[in-house]
Order: sequence, then structure tokens, then C-alpha cells
Amino acid sequence: MDNTNIEELTKKAEAFIELLYAELDKSEEETENRLISVREQINNLGSYLHTEEELVHGARMAWRHNSRCIGRLFWDKLEVIDARQAENEDQIAEALLQHVERANNGGRIRPVLTVFRSAEDESQRIRVWNHQLIRYAGYPSIDGSARSGDPASDHFTRVCQQLGWQGTGGNYDVLPLVVGIGDGEPRLFPIPTDLIQEVHLSHPEIERFPELQLRWYSVPIISDMQLEIGGILYTAAPFNGWYMETEIGSRNLGDTGRYNLLPEVADLMGLDRSTNTTLWKDRALLELNRAVLHSFKQAGVSIVDHHTAADQFVRFQQQEEERGREVSSRWSWLIPPMSPSATPIWHDQSLMELDLSPQFLYQSPAYQGWLEALDGPLKSADSELISPSCDSDSKETTTVSLPEMACPFHHKM
Ligand code: ARG
Repeated sequence: MDNTNIEELTKKAEAFIELLYAELDKSEEETENRLISVREQINNLGSYLHTEEELVHGARMAWRHNSRCIGRLFWDKLEVIDARQAENEDQIAEALLQHVERANNGGRIRPVLTVFRSAEDESQRIRVWNHQLIRYAGYPSIDGSARSGDPASDHFTRVCQQLGWQGTGGNYDVLPLVVGIGDGEPRLFPIPTDLIQEVHLSHPEIERFPELQLRWYSVPIISDMQLEIGGILYTAAPFNGWYMETEIGSRNLGDTGRYNLLPEVADLMGLDRSTNTTLWKDRALLELNRAVLHSFKQAGVSIVDHHTAADQFVRFQQQEEERGREVSSRWSWLIPPMSPSATPIWHDQSLMELDLSPQFLYQSPAYQGWLEALDGPLKSADSELISPSCDSDSKETTTVSLPEMACPFHHKM
């Protein structure tokens, strides 16, 4: 590591230690001692090791700082699992499966983050290739045949197939875990079916709703972002909360670029789709979201509706104000993708994005180079999924971002 890097890391580390130790009410002496030891480690090794406490609180702060997340009221309840000792792919996969189980908790979803060792040595850099630990495969149409599954997973599904995985070609095939270390060949680990909880959708009034055979998995575990704490980059640090219903009903199932189900729902409801003025899309969207809420509740799986989530966000803002901290917020990501103007967030003109650390950052898809070596540069249909489509974000550390896929409650304006 050259001197500028050492200096930069030292600055970030110091800022973090000072902030953290102040938040945790540590004595000046303790803070000073820790600073001395951190500086020493950086000078000798070019890096430093976080204590368990720094790791736990640092990860919680990264959640608290995430400008796109409406669910931050619970930031200090995040459970952090230290998996820095996991060496090889098998141990990493084992920790990922434990994360799934711990987070799902029989439906009473727990916010969990598992952190793997940091990435100073590139040849030892851990990446989870999945966007989320549990996600459905996507199969593009071949020669005009109908496509199936989740279009957001088309690329990664191809990667899995190349690595020897075979799906059924259906709409809801759960993808395997793929773990890579450095430039080594990635390894593939199927998720045991008893770890995967799914909710089949029914509707409180529309009796025929189950005929659509819709479902979604219970817990979204984002696994492709990196966690930055005090200048240290954790390239593998999967985390989860519970779902807000619009993520599934409005976006995953409703978006035209995803499962695109509004026409089918409207037809089931017998709506007139020949004109926009029947507001068939809005009515279908509403009932789809009601079905998601109803079904998750019935299955005993934690979920929050967008009004409650927005109210909780306001409480988070108040709480932060009382504690003398500013909240970083991106309006376009915080307003929910159904009836946004019926929530207080819509009307809040004070929201501002700030440059805060610890933080979650995007990184290029781990499979990008690998897939391009196989298929050549990704085609335009592909690049739609991996090029910035909302406002570009200077904080992304890489040239390619996944705005649509990486957003906590992803939706664009
Ligand atoms: N929006 C993503 C999805 O629908 C999940 C992002 C994280 N969401 C959350 N509630 N923690 O799969």
C-alpha cells in the first residue's frame, strides 16, 4: 500500500472510531488507546481489524445511513453475525444457509447481516454472485417462445446454468447460491428446500385469485452490495429486513420489466382494459398489493404495508433529530410505488442526500467479466438490467451499477 492510501485509510479509520466511540459513550482514554492501536496496525499491515463491537455497530450505522431505505427505524435492532473466520467456499456457503434460516425464523423475520472477511488481498476477495440469497430464475424467450421466471435474473440464471445448474424452466425456480473467491472458479450450492419459505398468494375477497398461481419468497437478503466501515471494504456482507408489500405487489409482480402481471390480474377481476380511463392498472395494482399483505399475514410471515412503513420512517426522522443527527434520504427511493402522495414522505421537501460512512455501496456484478468472456459484451436487453436507470450515483465505486436490483425497496420515478 502506498503512502496516500495509508493516509486515506487512516483518516477514515480515525473518523469512524471517533464517531463510534462517541455514540457508544466511551471514555476519552479508551478512544485514544484504540486510535493508537488502529494507526499502528495500519502502518504495519496496511489495514486494521475491527473489534466485534465496531463491526456490529458499524453495520448498524450503515443501515441507518442508507438514504434509500424506508425501514430504518429498526436500524439498531440489526443482528450482525461475524463470519470473518470463514475461509473457503464451503464454509461461506454454510454461513449463508445459516443466515437464511436465522433471518427467516419460521416467518417472524429478523433483520440480519452476515459479514465475511474484508478484501485487502484481491486473490482472497469473497463475492456472493447472487443478487439476493433467495431469488427466482429467469429464462429469456428463445425463438419467439414465451419467456418465464424473473427477467431480473436472466443473466445470473445463465451463469448458474453454465456452472452446471438446471432449473425446471418455470416461473419460480429458486436459484442456487454461487460463491467465488478471488479469480477462482465460482462454486455452486443449491439451497435445501426446507430452508426456503414461500407464500402463495390469495386475496381476502377475490376467491379466484389463487388460480393465478402467484407466489413470492418470504425474505429478501441482498447479497451483492459491499459494506464500508471506517475505510475497510467488506465485499460480502449479505443483509435483510422484512418485505414491504409494494416491493412484491407493485414492483416484482407488477412491473412490465418483471413478472408483468397487471393484465392478468385485471382480466381475473373482469376489468375493461380497452381504455386507460377505467384505471384498470391502478385497480389491479391495488388488489395485487392487498393479496400480498393478506397472504403474508395468513402465512404468519412478517410484512409491513407502505403506510405503516412511511409512518415508521417519520418516527425515525424524529428520533434522529432528537439525537442530533441528520438523516440522509433520497426522495425518489423512499416514496412507495403505490399511492405515494397518501404518505407523508411525498410532501416532505426537506429530504437530502448526505455523504455518510459507514455505508452500503454498489459493486459490479461479480459475474460480469465471467459472463462477458463467455457471451461477449452484454446485449442491450441485458444492459437494461445493469446500467444506471435512475439518477446516477457518484458514490457507486464501480462503473456499472444495479440501481433497479439493489434498491432496498426498488422503484424508479
Ligand atoms: N426490493 C427488493 C425485492 O423486492 C428487496 C430489497 C430489500 N427490501 C427490504 N424490505 N429489506 O426483492
